[in-house]
Amino acid sequence: MNDLDFTQKEFSKLLDVACELVEKQYSEMYKRPAYRPFTPTEVRSWFDEALPEEGMAVDALLKEADEKVLQTATMNLGPHMYGYVMAGGTQISSVAELLANTVNQNMGKWHLGPAMNEIEQRVIQWGADFIEYRREIDGVPEQIGGTLVSGGSAANLTGLTVARNVFFEKYKIRETGLFGQKPFIVYGSNETHGCVDKSLELLGIGTNNYRKIQCNADYTIDLNALKSQIEQDKKDGLQPFCVIGNAGTVNTGAIDDLDILADIAQEHGLWFHVDGAYGGLVASLDSHKHFYKGMERADSVAVDFHKWLYQPFEVGCCLVKNWELLKKTYYKRASYLAMDAKDDGRLDLNGHHFQLSRNAKAFKVWMSFKAYGAQAFRDMIQKDIDLTKYLARLVDDAKDFTLFNEPDLSAVCFQYIGDGTKSDEELNRLNQKIIHALENDGRVFIPGSQLLGQTVIRACLINHRKQQEHVDFLVKVIRDVAESL
Ligand SMILES: Cc1ncc(COP(=O)(O)O)c(C=O)c1O
Repeated sequence: MNDLDFTQKEFSKLLDVACELVEKQYSEMYKRPAYRPFTPTEVRSWFDEALPEEGMAVDALLKEADEKVLQTATMNLGPHMYGYVMAGGTQISSVAELLANTVNQNMGKWHLGPAMNEIEQRVIQWGADFIEYRREIDGVPEQIGGTLVSGGSAANLTGLTVARNVFFEKYKIRETGLFGQKPFIVYGSNETHGCVDKSLELLGIGTNNYRKIQCNADYTIDLNALKSQIEQDKKDGLQPFCVIGNAGTVNTGAIDDLDILADIAQEHGLWFHVDGAYGGLVASLDSHKHFYKGMERADSVAVDFHKWLYQPFEVGCCLVKNWELLKKTYYKRASYLAMDAKDDGRLDLNGHHFQLSRNAKAFKVWMSFKAYGAQAFRDMIQKDIDLTKYLARLVDDAKDFTLFNEPDLSAVCFQYIGDGTKSDEELNRLNQKIIHALENDGRVFIPGSQLLGQTVIRACLINHRKQQEHVDFLVKVIRDVAESL
C-alpha cells in the first residue's frame, strides 16, 4: 500500500470480511442479549491506547472491531430493545449507507451531487405525502419545503428557528439579534420533549419564556389552561409567539388536539409547530388519521425517519409549508458559493440549511421506500401499535403490575407492584431498583421514566422484528428480575 487505498484484491477481501460481519450481526440478532452490562472502566480499557503512528493489518483491525465493538453493541437491531424511541434499522439502509459513503456526495451544493440532491428533495416530498402534510393554493398543490437533519432534536430546532426568523422578520432580527425585543413567549405541554428547552436556549428565547402548560389525564395539553395563559401573557404586555403541539409525546405517545391548537394559533396570530418526531409518521395510518387532524395546518412539523421509518441513525426531517421559509431563515450569499450557480432550476440546499457540507441522508430513505414500498411501513407501524396494546393488556390484567397509560401509539408506562401492599414511595424505590437490575440482567433493554411524579418502567415498541412472543418474554423477564430482588 503506497497511499491510503488498498490494491483491488485487498479491498475486495476487506469488503468480503466486512460483509461477513454484517451478516453475522443479522444472523445473531434474535439470540444475542439486548445489553451486555460492562462497566465504563472495562470498556474504556479496551480503547486506552496512544494515537497509533503506524497502521496495522486490516484483517486484525476488523477482528478487533468485531470483538470490541460489534459483538458488544447494544442490540438495537434485535427484538428485545424497548428503550427510548429506538428502531432496528433496515437491511437496505445498511447497504445504502455503504454506497452513499462510497460516492461521498456533499449536499451543500447541487452540482456536488446532482442525483443525491434531487433524491433529498424527493424524499422530503415523500415524507410530506406519507403524513399528508400539504398545502394548496387556489386548489393547486404547492411544493412543501423541508430539510433533512440529524434527528428529532435538530428537526425541532430547525422548525423553531424558522419560526423565530420568519415571524420576527419585521424586526430584522437576523441582523440585529434579539437585543431590545420584548420576550417572545412559547407554549407547549409539560410532556413536551426536552429538546425544545434546548432549542429555546440556543435561539436566545430562554426557557423563562417557555410556558409548560399542564396536561389532562391522558397527557395531552390542557387547552383551557393554554388559552388562559396566552391571555395573561398578552395582558402582561408580552409577545405570545409560538404554540408547540405534540404528535406523540415521548413518555406516553399522547397526541394533543392539533386542530384546536391550530385554531388557537390562528386566533392569536401565533406560529404553530408540531413535534412529530416520535409519532408524526403514524398519521399515515387510516386507523389513526383522526388523531392528527390539524397537523396539516401547522407552519412547521418535525418528523424523524430514524424512529418510526425504521432507519438507522441519523436522519430527521423538518417540514415547512414552502421552501421560501427556509431560504428566509438560512440563505446567505457567499462569493465562493455563488460564482458557479447557474440559473437552470438547481436548488443549492446550503441556502435552506444551517450546514454547508452535509452527507446524503436521503439515500437510505429513498432506497427503503423503493425497496419495501410505503404500505410495508404502514403495516409495520400498525403491527407495533397492536403489539403495544397487547402489552398494555398483559400489564393491566396482571395483579402484580399497574398500567399508567392507555397507549394510542407504542409507548406504555407501568409499575411492578408485587402483592400490591406497598406505598407510592416504596414503589418508586422498588421500580428504580428493577430498572437497574434489568440493565444488569441484559436479556431485554428497558429503562424507565417519571410520570405523575412516579418512577415507571417505560416500553417503546418501534422495531419491525418484534413479535408477540418477544412481548411475552419481556413481561416474564421483568417479573423474574423483580421477584429476585
Ligand atoms: C417527541 C420527541 N421529540 C424529539 C425527540 C428527539 O429526537 P432525537 O433523539 O432524534 O434527537 C424525541 C426522541 O425520542 C421524541 O420522542
